Amino acid sequence: MIRINDNYLNLQDSYLFSTIAKKVAEFSKNNPDKRIIKLGIGDVTRPIVPKVIEAMHKAVDEMGNPETFKGYGPEQGYEFLREKIVKYDFESRGVNIDPEEIFVSDGAKSDCGNIGDILDIGNKVAITDPVYPVYLDTNVMAGRSGTYNKETGMYENIVYIPVTSKNNFIPECPKEKVDMIYLCLPNNPTGTTLTKEELKKWVDYAKENNSIILFDAAYEKFIHNDKLPHSIYEVEGAKEVAIEFRSFSKTAGFTGVRCAYTVVPKVLMGYDKQGNKVSLNKLWNRRHSTKTNGVSYIVQRAAEAVYSDEGQKQIMENIEYYMENARIIKNGLKEAGYTVFGGEDSPYVWLKVPEGLTSWEFFDKLLEEANVVGTPGSGFGPSGEGYFRLTAFGTKENTVEAIERIKKMKI
Ligand code: MLT
Repeated sequence: MIRINDNYLNLQDSYLFSTIAKKVAEFSKNNPDKRIIKLGIGDVTRPIVPKVIEAMHKAVDEMGNPETFKGYGPEQGYEFLREKIVKYDFESRGVNIDPEEIFVSDGAKSDCGNIGDILDIGNKVAITDPVYPVYLDTNVMAGRSGTYNKETGMYENIVYIPVTSKNNFIPECPKEKVDMIYLCLPNNPTGTTLTKEELKKWVDYAKENNSIILFDAAYEKFIHNDKLPHSIYEVEGAKEVAIEFRSFSKTAGFTGVRCAYTVVPKVLMGYDKQGNKVSLNKLWNRRHSTKTNGVSYIVQRAAEAVYSDEGQKQIMENIEYYMENARIIKNGLKEAGYTVFGGEDSPYVWLKVPEGLTSWEFFDKLLEEANVVGTPGSGFGPSGEGYFRLTAFGTKENTVEAIERIKKMKI
């Protein structure tokens, strides 16, 4: 008899963005004349920059030449890419990372989900609320949660840390002891972030409690305030307690190309059943080299080109393009009387839905009256109820039009 992983039966509905896609497809089918503007899922719209395309073309040609053809590469990533990552993403910010601490992969989403493979099922998990659904769902799949409570909208055995306007979007360290903590900064979905001092409190908490911080920095390139940290390792001692996830998806338009990396410091230790220290870098290396043959040579050459002077200039132009959209959304919504957050160091704008509506009711209203798609805050967790997310990743024309349409809506 084929027994299934029963934990999957404990998951709620479908993945948030699939539910939205289904609703939008239905609306579209019933209203074929309406032009829908999608500011829902955070998917990029700017094409990949010329310097990166050039590197990809060159790599394609190398693959077609017997002299330069490449078969399997190192599972952890080619040295040429790992070295650039170390130099440009970390050394430039005063952080010392060894290339052997970098693991190149096909996406931060996969890494955030897969990291649980090397951590015990009995670990207590803490997530901020609202949260990128992948952190929660992958832990439910693994069996780290209890059952879902429909009334509270929460899983038993998971610690939810509210991040709302009530606490200025600054998550407070839990009073109890937790083992695995997910932090995403700049935050998806709220678009807010933390100062180095605020982040240090989490590092201190993790040290005191022997916990691990799983730090998702997929949106770090959108930080504009010079004082804000881009990496958790800018906080002293963080290497002893944190794994960091980075992605080329949003920074270089790689959502359809797939490339990311995870940093697992050599000083970071977990504990076995007997309480002996075990290197998480070694465990992740073992897992990574067993379960994947890494990322294609062509894609890694493309990622490398992101770090060239021209590549950096070009990707920053795209980021500025999106940040201009974020300003258009933020200012337009403010003019229309909405309360808005985020959008300054992040491509996400988080707004309060009009009084008397739930997040999903506002989703329907926006779709029906303005033909604009966003993401309901409650889809990211119970503390997201009453909020709504719009992304700055659309085209400028669509963003301007979406805001004009929203302004005309009666609230
Ligand atoms: C989002 O919209 O939250 C992201 O696009 C999802 C992702 O990065 O997987």
